[in-house]
Amino acid sequence: HLSVQDRIEEKRRAALVGGGQKRIDAQHKRGKLTARERIDLLMDPESFVEYDMFVEHRCADFGMEADHNKYPGDSVVTGQGRINGRLAYVFSQDFTVFGGSLSGAHAQKICKIMDQAMMVGAPVIGLNDSGGARIQEGVESLAGYADIFLRNVMASGVVPQISLIMGPCAGGAVYSPALTDFTFMVKDTSYLFITGPDVVKSVTNEDVTQEELGGARTHTAVSGVAHRAFENDVDALLNLRNFFNFLPLSNKDPAPVTECHDPSDRLVPGLDTLVPFESTKAYDMLDIIHGIVDERDFFEIMPNYAKNIVVGFARMNGRTVGIVGNQPKVASGTGAAYCRACCLDINSSVKGARFVRFCDAFNIPIITFVDVPGFLPGTAQEYGGIIRHGAKLLFAFAEATVPKITVITRKAYGGAYDVMSSKHLRGDVNYAWPSAEVAVMGAKGAVQIIFRGKENQAEAEAEYVETFANPFPAAVRGFVDDIIQPSTTRKRICRDLEVLASKKQTNPWKKHANIPL
Ligand code: COA
Repeated sequence: HLSVQDRIEEKRRAALVGGGQKRIDAQHKRGKLTARERIDLLMDPESFVEYDMFVEHRCADFGMEADHNKYPGDSVVTGQGRINGRLAYVFSQDFTVFGGSLSGAHAQKICKIMDQAMMVGAPVIGLNDSGGARIQEGVESLAGYADIFLRNVMASGVVPQISLIMGPCAGGAVYSPALTDFTFMVKDTSYLFITGPDVVKSVTNEDVTQEELGGARTHTAVSGVAHRAFENDVDALLNLRNFFNFLPLSNKDPAPVTECHDPSDRLVPGLDTLVPFESTKAYDMLDIIHGIVDERDFFEIMPNYAKNIVVGFARMNGRTVGIVGNQPKVASGTGAAYCRACCLDINSSVKGARFVRFCDAFNIPIITFVDVPGFLPGTAQEYGGIIRHGAKLLFAFAEATVPKITVITRKAYGGAYDVMSSKHLRGDVNYAWPSAEVAVMGAKGAVQIIFRGKENQAEAEAEYVETFANPFPAAVRGFVDDIIQPSTTRKRICRDLEVLASKKQTNPWKKHANIPL
């Protein structure tokens, strides 16, 4: 008979090896780290405090009650620790124990850290690697998922929630990551889908591989389900540490301020000549963003999805900011092709709206760069509900009460002018560059409507351009606060953020708003 002390030690030792060396080797062979190795990389050394190492599943069906089917800690490692000195809660599913499948006990462990994270006010990070519901447990397992989903919803807007998909995540399991603020994936070794290729084949007769159906490329470029993909486990975890530094710990916490070695009054001379004189020529909005933020450090969210809008996190004089920008670069051609490519469409509206809402929920100021010829015309967009989806972006900017700074770099046409954090939606500081053009539409289209059938179309077009293709109509009405030299943009924004740091604004009381979904 072992003493209690010996049994404690033995259980701890058993917990540390999960499903055993053979399965750990198999995990490594797949190019994946184990649940514990991942936590070691994610958290600061020696900072991780584990909870529930002695929890075991309680299933007594299908021979599960046998001792050799019990693993201390079951199929998930949970606890809290530090990332660059700041508190985070984490759960890491252990694929070596029943394929990381979710038992009632597994769910209970996750719920425990989520509840505490919400009370304490610290983010929850999930490292997902799981074969889904523990088949032997039936409804017990399904109940466990729902318990987690409910907490995902309750925690939404309270503490940041991040999912990193590092293996399979299928069936009901996908809805927890889907409810979190950010979903990242590891290339080649992770996938997310509602049903796998075999079920797809039997229901829709489609032949599709696991990778095509739910791999990192699919979700970061086609479906928009995931926000970034990384090369491997190590790359993903190091990027997650870096990303974490941008986030506040909770909705009560101001966005973190780090020491900044990049002078806040630095001029960016390149910006004075960046926007091409010809207004249908492309340029890269990322050049503007990299130029103005601290140390060119920009963490882009969804870089491969709806590329006509750029969103992501950066710092200005050490303070986290969220950046939204139209992207004229995706338009390689000129004229009509140019306009089509950089318009707001369904996907860019939804991408932008979700990002703006995250920033607003977590006290992160929003800086918006505007160069948009309007919403994308056509049946595909209208039938797809561009009205409903475009309204999301409008809604998100309008309801946001964080500091909002807007810079019109070139075109701000039509409804898209209103939507893109305009003065009218409570923009705090709105600037125009000298190249700005604010109008209902471009000269050609406008002249075709208001001078239809008249002679001297060219003359009318020139008059229209003379009247509208400049920042003055907006500036004389106070719809932009100033026309600034592009090279001074960083300096101006850093100063504004300093002033706006104490901004207080509230919306009318409501149970919750009814954003068009
Ligand atoms: N419940 C219980 N055990 C599970 C499980 C589940 N949902 N998923 C996997 N496992 C177990 C396997 O029995 C196996 O156990 P073993 O190590 O004792 O042999 C272990 O986890 C590894 O699974 P395996 O199938 O060998 O790994 P794989 O890499 O070849 O395949 C999956 C991984 C996830 C694709 C595959 O296990 C699978 O399809 N699982 C079921 C997925 C599912 O439909 N879940 C329900 C959806 S909610």
